[in-house]
Amino acid sequence: MSSYEYIDHEYDVVVVGAGGAGLRATLGMAEQGLKTACVSKVFPTRSHTVAAQGGIAASLGNMDVGTEQNDHWQWHMYDTVKGSDWLGDTDAMEYLVREAPKAVYELEHYGVPFSRTEDGKIYQRPFGGHTTEFGEGPSVQRTCAAADRTGHAILHTLYGQSLKNNAEFYIEYFVTDLIMTEDGRCQGVIAWKLDDGTIHRFNAKMVVLATGGYGRAFFSATSAHTCTGDGGGMVARQGLPLQDMEFVQFHPTGIYGSGCLITEGARGEGGFLTNSEGERFMERYAPTYKDLASRDVVSRCMTIEIREGRGIGADGDHIHLNLSHLDPEALALRLPGISESAKIFAGVDVTKEPIPVLPTVHYNMGGVPTNYWGEVLDPTAKDHDRILPGLMAVGEAGCASVHGANRLGSNSLIDLVVFGRAAAIRAAEVVDPKTPNEPLNEASIAKSMARFDAMRHADGSISTADLRLEMQKTMQDDAAVFRTDKTLAEGCKKMEAIAKKMADIKVTDRSLIWNSDLMESLELANLMPNAMATIVGAEARKESRGAHAHEDYPDRDDKDWRKHTLARVDGHKVKLSYRDVHLEPLTKQADGGIDLKKIAPKARVY
Ligand code: FUM
Repeated sequence: MSSYEYIDHEYDVVVVGAGGAGLRATLGMAEQGLKTACVSKVFPTRSHTVAAQGGIAASLGNMDVGTEQNDHWQWHMYDTVKGSDWLGDTDAMEYLVREAPKAVYELEHYGVPFSRTEDGKIYQRPFGGHTTEFGEGPSVQRTCAAADRTGHAILHTLYGQSLKNNAEFYIEYFVTDLIMTEDGRCQGVIAWKLDDGTIHRFNAKMVVLATGGYGRAFFSATSAHTCTGDGGGMVARQGLPLQDMEFVQFHPTGIYGSGCLITEGARGEGGFLTNSEGERFMERYAPTYKDLASRDVVSRCMTIEIREGRGIGADGDHIHLNLSHLDPEALALRLPGISESAKIFAGVDVTKEPIPVLPTVHYNMGGVPTNYWGEVLDPTAKDHDRILPGLMAVGEAGCASVHGANRLGSNSLIDLVVFGRAAAIRAAEVVDPKTPNEPLNEASIAKSMARFDAMRHADGSISTADLRLEMQKTMQDDAAVFRTDKTLAEGCKKMEAIAKKMADIKVTDRSLIWNSDLMESLELANLMPNAMATIVGAEARKESRGAHAHEDYPDRDDKDWRKHTLARVDGHKVKLSYRDVHLEPLTKQADGGIDLKKIAPKARVY
């Protein structure tokens, strides 16, 4: 093994990842006087949150929708519970929707340039699955937007504010592993500086994983190529479980061919889907909310239309999203970004022609299990839901769980800022900046560096790109919008063989400077346990719930399956166990909380 020298750093908090959750956590930690570093493999404002378009959900009630009051946190909660197909944790969902307005106003005060109503309030648009009066009223306008570049606006603001508050950034550093004590406390991380090849040890009292999702485990995804489930990979390597990984969201409107996102805001502003017969088919499937039913529902309906021969194009393999009936000025004002994307990626002028679209992998509901403060849990520990000291996970990397089996559009950006903020609030309680940091566990570092070195010198027979493609195609085919016992069993078998091939990988570049071959191999090593947990968890779940549409078990089965999946992944082996859904809210009804009868399970129709 080559010998490596280390550059050491000491912080109260190290945040890994600089997307919306990472930056909101970084800012919150720094504001509270904690010495905070944010370590990111990409420049912060290039993190994948920059691609978030349509907006951020909060029941501000700025828009008149014809109901007695415009919005209410309890309606947002009902929609989130129903959207999750009754798999979300009630305490975490209450925390999310009640803190949402505060978190959005904070963003406004930090300087996020939200679009405005005539009277100067934050502009809010309709989004799928967001309704009024506990699903009995009209669609609500709850999604706060900065045109269709909301994520971009949030990232730039949070990055500026973090710098202003003296957070320190380590940019283009790839975090390879957690440093853990023998008794399971996190002490920091190891990172490889991509531009000069140096290796860095970050000693911290708290590590926050904000590494995003693992969309790139699939062939066609709206996610950036950087979305490689690095946090999940690091956690899995410590023998810790991942939660609810079988729930993978397909966004209804990825551009056909490129997978580039066309925001749900397009339908929120009045766009609609049609099949090859020119029919607005969503009216048949979701008579009340139509194109604004929740995402899993719309993606399934589109897939059915295609399967039944009503798809568009020579191969009948996509659907049309129509915007040309909308006022061109409104398109330019509210949807400038997607108008440009449609031109670039589909050659379409949205004022004249429909956009060819297809359900595309977009979001991972599962992730590292946490409580609603972002503290990482080991629910498989004997003392149920044991908190792992020194480790938090927020944003798409974490699973609090507020999205359960299906996330509502625009509940992601709010998840990022609410839980990034919550992590900072909690860290201020549990991190004492006056206590010195402990010496790092050398054995943990040595193990991690041995893995790094082995990958750097890997000399097998299959390239990273080829193996990644095999994984992506298998996941795309066998863990798709619709799943069956047959496809899932085949998928598990194929994925097991693919995961075994990690031992036969070939890295051609041995250098440490801008070695994208090595970096992509380390990323593949992170994607693999995420993918394994996904397909094995899916194969085991014998019901349909949210994004997990199992054709052999078409109904939701609350008696046997209203429970979270936990997956421990060790190479090609996955061990599953389950934990209960939290059914208790944070606030009792008598103290102003929601009436639990309102959110009791029932059929999920839109
Ligand atoms: O459609 C969109 O703008 C995506 C939003 C989201 O995933 O929350």
